Amino acid sequence: MTNPFKNIQGETAWQAPSNIALVKYWGKYGNQLPRNASVSFTLNNAYTQTSVKYIAKSQVDKQITLKFFFEGKENPKFADKIQRFLESIVPHFPYLPYFSLEINSSNSFPHSTGIASSASSMAALALCLTAIENELDGGMYPSLFFEKASMIARLGSGSACRSVYPYLAVWGKHDAIPFSHNEHAIPFENNVHPVFKTYKDAILIVSSDEKSVSSRAGHALMENNPFATSRYQQATTHLTQLADCLKSGDLDKFGEIVENEALTLHALMMCSTPSYMLMLPNTLKIIDLIKTYRQEKNVPLYYTLDAGPNVHLLYPEKNATEVTAFIKENLLPYCENNKVIFDEVGKGPIKLK
Ligand code: PMV
Repeated sequence: MTNPFKNIQGETAWQAPSNIALVKYWGKYGNQLPRNASVSFTLNNAYTQTSVKYIAKSQVDKQITLKFFFEGKENPKFADKIQRFLESIVPHFPYLPYFSLEINSSNSFPHSTGIASSASSMAALALCLTAIENELDGGMYPSLFFEKASMIARLGSGSACRSVYPYLAVWGKHDAIPFSHNEHAIPFENNVHPVFKTYKDAILIVSSDEKSVSSRAGHALMENNPFATSRYQQATTHLTQLADCLKSGDLDKFGEIVENEALTLHALMMCSTPSYMLMLPNTLKIIDLIKTYRQEKNVPLYYTLDAGPNVHLLYPEKNATEVTAFIKENLLPYCENNKVIFDEVGKGPIKLK
């Protein structure tokens, strides 16, 4: 069979950031569809850069032909994962088996820092694959381009679908949020107070060990969690309330909801069967110190957590100097090797090539 793409070759490259959820996605059904809607800040400094070279095959077969390099080196473990992912999305990108692909990927943050790289890496890859389709097909409307990239990123790692938009993104159908959708995220930067567009996120690395439970297993545990139904209702209410805070700039109500979301995520893991404790003693120590500092200094410093022991400190840019001093003097002793990553809300993905 002759290759309809004969003699076509090219390269595309994207940078995509990580994101941190404010209302958490925890529990899914079907093909990576969320049980509740979530919202996240798009980050700036923690990102993945991915390039995809594609050369039309001379002999057409039905296989995905892939060479995968992570940080300049061939990486069989990641290559297998990407190979399976590419095979699963052929229905969305029928061009894939007609090309030999070479993917190069690298992160701005070291591999084992406890920062999940799946959101930024899946978003960067999805953007590259959608861009190739765009080149082969002659172009989509920009909003449709990002919608498709978000949908593809979701299939790789649910929360990755929120990483294709600047500032903030909502994923999951929510009655009060027009155009919100379960299949892809939507941008959520309009109707957001300017204070949040420059918000800071200092990530305190309490431990860089591999997660004790994968997020796939964590989501699955929600299926038999006795509090699942009320949790999904709570998340829906939290998103309605948080959308109001994001609009008005009410930092204390914002922080109250965000902290409650973080603790709820951990509580859900604690009361699942089997149960998991994802916080470490130093996580609790840091949380305690943040609360005391907030009360004593009247600074709107709040925290959130991912499904692990590291603490994300969220605060306005105007408080950055005093919060940085507080982190260095009081919190670093509770971090692994005094490690903190200073990040902030960012402008979303960048096309590199
Ligand atoms: O995208 P996943 O399947 O790795 O799940 C991520 C879940 C949390 O990070 C804990 C919450 C979220 O909404 O990002």
